[in-house]
Amino acid sequence: ASHVESDLTNILYTKEEIQARVAELAAEIEKDYEGRDVLVVGVLKGAVMIMADLVRAMNKHVSMDWMAVSSYGSGTKSSGVVRILKDLDTDLMGKHVLIVEDIIDSGLTLSWLKTNLESRGPASVEICTLLRKPDAAKVQIDVKYVGYEIPTEFVVGYGLDYDEKYRNLDFIGTLAPHVYS
Ligand code: PRP
Ligand code: MN
Ligand code: MG
Repeated sequence: ASHVESDLTNILYTKEEIQARVAELAAEIEKDYEGRDVLVVGVLKGAVMIMADLVRAMNKHVSMDWMAVSSYGSGTKSSGVVRILKDLDTDLMGKHVLIVEDIIDSGLTLSWLKTNLESRGPASVEICTLLRKPDAAKVQIDVKYVGYEIPTEFVVGYGLDYDEKYRNLDFIGTLAPHVYS
């Protein structure tokens, strides 16, 4: 119920910076997938904002589908346990699939998800994430599109939550320790 801004220590990326970076990623993806339709798979709920902005910045045919997997509870640490909360509606056979994420932290969610989707017979599976933390390097996953490499800090906004809050911010900020300690 308290004021949102007092929960943040600083702004990591402004709305304008995010919009510009997402447009760059979209242009890169558009070029790489020229002449091929792409199925963009957003990972609920964190990827909602980047999905919406990324596909609107692309001038090509895209289909969108959603998966809900969760490796976090209400805390700040990954549990390492991936649960499917909602599967895709789409048959992936022969499709070019682009998984879209807000953040790769431990990498556990995506390494599991990429393997899972690859087993469904797609033509290709690539990953686009807005943010990536250093711990992700411990897990072997090939990530083709990365918006920003960030330090190990608890960040919220632009889809990223703490205890389901702050997703609606149009910028990305660092959560003040007093909020989660
Ligand atoms: C967050 C984030 C990624 C995942 C990354 O999702 O959106 O999907 O964790 O963590 P990892 O690399 O350590 O696996 P979360 O499980 O919190 O669900 P949400 O998207 O609904 O917030
Ligand atoms: Mn997520
Ligand atoms: Mg979360």
